[in-house]
Amino acid sequence: MHVMLSAVKNCIKGVIPSFKVREKLAAKYLKGSGVEIGALHLPLRVPRGVTVKYVDYCTRDENIHKFPELTASNVVETDFVEDGFQLQTFDEGSVDFVIANHVLEHADDPVGVLLNWLRVIRPGGIVMATVPIMARCFDRGREETSVEHLLEDHRLVASGRIDEFRIRNRRHFHEVITISLRNQIGADSFKTMSAEELEATVSAMASAERPDTHYHTFSADSYTHFLQAFTAEFAPDVNVLAVNSSRGGTEVVAFLEKTAG
Ligand SMILES: C[S@@+](CC[C@H](N)C(=O)[O-])C[C@H]1O[C@@H](n2cnc3c(N)ncnc32)[C@H](O)[C@@H]1O
Repeated sequence: MHVMLSAVKNCIKGVIPSFKVREKLAAKYLKGSGVEIGALHLPLRVPRGVTVKYVDYCTRDENIHKFPELTASNVVETDFVEDGFQLQTFDEGSVDFVIANHVLEHADDPVGVLLNWLRVIRPGGIVMATVPIMARCFDRGREETSVEHLLEDHRLVASGRIDEFRIRNRRHFHEVITISLRNQIGADSFKTMSAEELEATVSAMASAERPDTHYHTFSADSYTHFLQAFTAEFAPDVNVLAVNSSRGGTEVVAFLEKTAG
């Protein structure tokens, strides 16, 4: 079971494709100083004069150990070791931007996480949040998370209905184990589990301190609709500036702006 969970965690594989769209949009929208959450081995290249500090819940050494498949010299130093979904050590309006590429899908409550990122940027500041396209990564074959599900997750958390929320998460873990993991390790090597083994593995993920996995899945359309619905219901002071496909259509990059008013 331990091997299984590590395999689910160690999901950073494959060639490094072009980051032209990420970088072009970053050059257009990012100014001043801010943070990148979960940069790992792919820190966003930003224009000259823009400064970035790195946030991760793991130190650089821990990330190198956790992802032995990565070239260690590419892994960034973590400036702030903390939960980047909370950013508790950051004051409200204290940075110009938050960057999070391939991180939001790891959140059990993406609405809550976006609200935390928006909290720490100043009025006029930017959140850049890129997600992988489900059909183009190891999540292919999973159910596309509905926009309503993402919104409802936050309503459950915000109203303290945590048991209901946790039951929904178990369904994600189930899919991760039976579909994402199978895609990652290959059908030939994947050992089909009995119903009991599967339930035990789901329970192990559910009780892990931080089950770092893809809770939710996105298409370009669903991510766009999610961001529109998110701002309409939870963040009326936020504009969706851009939502663009990148990396050969394997990911969608979005830029949100907190209005000054
Ligand atoms: C899939 S990697 C993203 C790598 C890179 N940014 C990219 O574009 O592919 C996810 C990274 O986010 C970090 N991460 C996940 N959840 C986090 C959290 N709650 N707080 C801080 N870092 C987190 C992981 O440790 C890892 O470094």
